[in-house]
Amino acid sequence: MKKIGILTGGGDAPGLNAVLRAAVKIAINQFGCDVFGIKNGFEGFLDPDGIVLLDLAAVRGILPQGGTILGAANRGNPFARKVILDGKEVIEDVSDQVVARFNELEFEALIVVGGDGTLKIGLELYEKGVPVIGVPKTIDNDVNGTEVTFGFDTALNIATEAIDRLHTTAESHHRVMILELMGRDAGFITLHAGVAGGADVILIPEIPFRFESVCEKIQSRVENGRLFSIIVVSEGAYPEGEQQVFRRAGDEVFVARLGGIGQVVGKFVEEVCGTEARVTVLGHIQRGGTPTAFDRWLATRYGASAVRAAAAGRFGRMVSLSDAKIVDVLLKDVLKIPKRVDVNGDAVTTARGLGISFGD
Ligand code: F6P
Repeated sequence: MKKIGILTGGGDAPGLNAVLRAAVKIAINQFGCDVFGIKNGFEGFLDPDGIVLLDLAAVRGILPQGGTILGAANRGNPFARKVILDGKEVIEDVSDQVVARFNELEFEALIVVGGDGTLKIGLELYEKGVPVIGVPKTIDNDVNGTEVTFGFDTALNIATEAIDRLHTTAESHHRVMILELMGRDAGFITLHAGVAGGADVILIPEIPFRFESVCEKIQSRVENGRLFSIIVVSEGAYPEGEQQVFRRAGDEVFVARLGGIGQVVGKFVEEVCGTEARVTVLGHIQRGGTPTAFDRWLATRYGASAVRAAAAGRFGRMVSLSDAKIVDVLLKDVLKIPKRVDVNGDAVTTARGLGISFGD
């Protein structure tokens, strides 16, 4: 193995640089192989200046850095790319150009670091003959086939710290503090942070909630002398029989952008439960900054294993964490269904046992 490519697709997540650093070091030190970075997701293949050599100097000092030195693009799907033709916007499949450039560059493998969207593109390119290996990245932890994605632990820690900070104001001012967290259609960040931060109500997309039930929980706490409450709500959570709340609709290129359910819950708490409420939206704070030690450790192991999988010719697969070991699994199996919180699993059962309400 002499030459491989690596790219980071979709939104950034803490630990991307740790993956790049490990992949480059293992490729050079153990296989004498050059690594080339593709800039801005798959877009780099379509850009004459989009491919850069990643030598040891290029990855020096990046382990604790958030973001990605390669840049990311969450609209860079080569199978559905927005282009201007005769002054009009059209959606084009330019995947053949990506495959042609990959072959021209004489790469022997392509390591694709991303969430479900990016991994799906990776699988489609694999089906067109590109030797792809996936690495599961996302703060949402919604990728199947692995116990955890890198990026999740950092987001979880940031979200938990935010709950701790909101607690002091909630208690001092006898208020309901509502924290809206990311996660798209999966409630992992909200569930884990809610339990770790001692929230009173956890609202996640997997368990549609009733406003009345949220009010009952707040009121029962007041009756027991607890004059404040903490509600954590996932951006994808929604009331029973209603729809998720979006900031922007999606199209062929962009996925719809969730956001706003925190304000909806806050309004109800003030107007119907009759309790003073404040809403905080944590947003991209969850994705930025330095990765936790766990994410650096996991991302490093993923990056190293991806290179080893490439050397062993294990293509069409994704490196994953299973029983504390790194293994690899078929990408097509991983992408069959997205990972969601098990509503009957021990995490939800434990939270209920602790007296946390899911609003159902
Ligand atoms: O998938 C990661 C994530 O941070 C989601 O939790 C969130 O819904 C989305 O990305 C936000 O995307 P953007 O950065 O495009 O606003």
